[in-house]
Amino acid sequence: MQGVNTAMPRQIIIFDTTLRDGEQCPGASMNREEKLAMARQLARLKVDVIEAGFPAASPDDFSGVQDIARQVRGPAIAALCRAIPTDIDRAAEAIAPAERGRIHTFIATSPIHMQHKLRMTPEQVLEAAVAAVKQARKYTSDVEFSAEDAVRSDMDFLCRVVEAVIHAGATTVNIPDTVGYAVPEEFGRRIAQLRSRVPNVDRAVISVHCHNDLGLAVANSLAAVAAGAGQVECTVNGIGERAGNASLEEVVMALKTRHDLFDTTTGVDSTEIIRASRLLTSITGMVVQPNKAIVGANAFSHESGIHQDGLLKNKATYEIMTPESVGLTEHTLVLGKHSGRHAFKSKLEELGYALTEEELGRAFLRFKKLADQKKEVFEEDLDAIVADETQRTADTFVLEKMQASSGTDQIPQAQVTLLVRGEKHTGQAEGDGPVDATYRAIAALSGTRSELTAYIVQAISGGTDAQGIVTVKISDNGRTFTGQGADPDIVVASARAYVNALNKADHWQRQRSRMKGP
Ligand code: KIV
Ligand code: ZN
Repeated sequence: MQGVNTAMPRQIIIFDTTLRDGEQCPGASMNREEKLAMARQLARLKVDVIEAGFPAASPDDFSGVQDIARQVRGPAIAALCRAIPTDIDRAAEAIAPAERGRIHTFIATSPIHMQHKLRMTPEQVLEAAVAAVKQARKYTSDVEFSAEDAVRSDMDFLCRVVEAVIHAGATTVNIPDTVGYAVPEEFGRRIAQLRSRVPNVDRAVISVHCHNDLGLAVANSLAAVAAGAGQVECTVNGIGERAGNASLEEVVMALKTRHDLFDTTTGVDSTEIIRASRLLTSITGMVVQPNKAIVGANAFSHESGIHQDGLLKNKATYEIMTPESVGLTEHTLVLGKHSGRHAFKSKLEELGYALTEEELGRAFLRFKKLADQKKEVFEEDLDAIVADETQRTADTFVLEKMQASSGTDQIPQAQVTLLVRGEKHTGQAEGDGPVDATYRAIAALSGTRSELTAYIVQAISGGTDAQGIVTVKISDNGRTFTGQGADPDIVVASARAYVNALNKADHWQRQRSRMKGP
């Protein structure tokens, strides 16, 4: 076909580091079950690579990566390690069960990092980088090397390092803007220069990993794609060290919406974006700002009369992408009070959930109760129930019953019945409000010494009968645990969230003492 461009668009590899760089930031730590739930959602989102953690950092990190390598199929599973032999061995062991495992090794290449942090000469760094890649290649053919602080590295030295690691067997070479210092034009130029100056560059994928200190992480990543980068590292909701990493949803939707400009595709199923974003929020309690691009509550709402009028006439007047394309369904009514277990199970399967029989049983009971309370049950209600019921650890505390009262002329009171290791305990307390009274009663019954550090309420699916999702954070022995609960009654949702956090803290303590032995 003369004059018609039939070349296939370039497919950009989406490397998700929510569970590693994202998890590293304050408030985002996740337990094993939560990491696994998030990894499963990333697989549904169809990212190409999941960076599951940093196995040498701690036994918990190691097991988190190993669990994901064992249980999550689809994306390649990557483990991060310093360019240190013991770290690389640990990473290799953690990813061994994966269908496709990647070792991601790194060392800093900027003068400031080499001199002050590593106390190594550039030649020593070069040697360590090459040795690390060679060692990693003994375990897997998929090896990524990162030149930490590449943006502040000397260009001639960076070119030498990139050439040497590719020669040693690196299949992906990552150019991180570790401190979020770059601006788009300059960063794009750096990628273009690497591509023109490094003789063997075609034998590896050039990747970028941008931090958001100047609010430019996504813009820098896109400039790099335009300059020929083949992989973008990013996180859901843009979480990560300090101001975060490039946000996955923004990168993916920019490439998709401005396909005319970039002529690239990704393998990501963008209709899973909202679910991934909400799951991460529910796990970590890190709520996205309402005006956050793509996943913020206002990202697709139009307030101005002129805009609404335009939209009614033609959606394209003010809409550059549809809400449906990111998985924002207009409160899709899914099931009613007469729906049976079979319909419930099929709907969950259609939404991409695979629950165990036990989880399904619990979720179905919750659904029935909700359907009785609420006329209509929407997809987002099911998401909340599933998140609630599948992130449960083996529960020590079970909220059996609770009742709270409050009013203008009344001291708020709560009565709670809690099963503690199967044994029924009932107690009551007064507080500043019904939630405070409930929490005091639960704290006394569970004997916890933890401190409540965050309490967040969100409504899902609109209307006064909407479910409330409560997220709490508690600090126990210096560690933070996040709990979540959903219910149309926000005091009940609050109680569920608190009990969920207490169970996680208790589960962690029990795991710790099992690891230490008798
Ligand atoms: O920001 C950074 O440089 C990193 C590397 C380890 C890839 O996170
Ligand atoms: Zn980083």
